[in-house]
Amino acid sequence: MPKDIIIAIDGYSACGKSTTARLLAEKLEYVFIDTGAMYRAVTLYFLQNGINFNRHEEVTAGLQHVHIHFEYNKETKRPDTYLNNKCVEDEIRSLTISECVSEVSAIPAVRRNMVAQQQLMGKNKRVVMDGRDIGTHVFPDAELKIFMTADLEVRVQRRVLELQKKRYTDIDASEIRQNLLHRDYVDSHRTDSPLIKADDAIELDTTYYTIPEQVEIVYQWAMERIQGTINGQH
Ligand code: DC
Repeated sequence: MPKDIIIAIDGYSACGKSTTARLLAEKLEYVFIDTGAMYRAVTLYFLQNGINFNRHEEVTAGLQHVHIHFEYNKETKRPDTYLNNKCVEDEIRSLTISECVSEVSAIPAVRRNMVAQQQLMGKNKRVVMDGRDIGTHVFPDAELKIFMTADLEVRVQRRVLELQKKRYTDIDASEIRQNLLHRDYVDSHRTDSPLIKADDAIELDTTYYTIPEQVEIVYQWAMERIQGTINGQH
């Protein structure tokens, strides 16, 4: 009997986690949740409202006014991120947000708030969630955990292409490289749920794979869990 599962995809910035997670979810008819977009939306709210990240009271008061949801966009065939009912999908991808998001997502109160929402979103399973702490904290019992990596230069090029597609101008590859290195460092060294590979996660190095190839690999892994053919549990 096929079973409903949770698929957690974690890893460094710009390894193709969200693209893979989205396409995998489409193939499985599961819900895709980009948790990085949620941290980006909180960061946007804090910047727009002049909230000082270092002041606990400002952060906790601010969080009460942050409402995030996703809506499927028929044109782009992707979910758009909404902050307080306004679509912020393009805004949250800017370098300004990328430069502050690791600091904001290291704040324990922010993480508690986001993790609680993510756990609700996955309570009925059938989700593919990508982020940094999904397999370690949000869903430590996820049936399939993937830890994605890729060569730094390949990641820089992928981010450049992504920003070009979103029609950003003034794209500076060296600035992007610095930002990825900075975020990898902060994300892996914060005290609250840092980015680490869960013991039972499968590592996938996407450096030499095309998107369809990496989606096919994870699809096979997912089908094995869904059909219960792992460890001969037919
Ligand atoms: O996936 P992304 O690059 O859009 O994520 C943006 C930032 O959000 C990332 O640098 C760290 C943070 N993040 C996190 O701390 N935990 C998650 N589950 C997802 C993202």
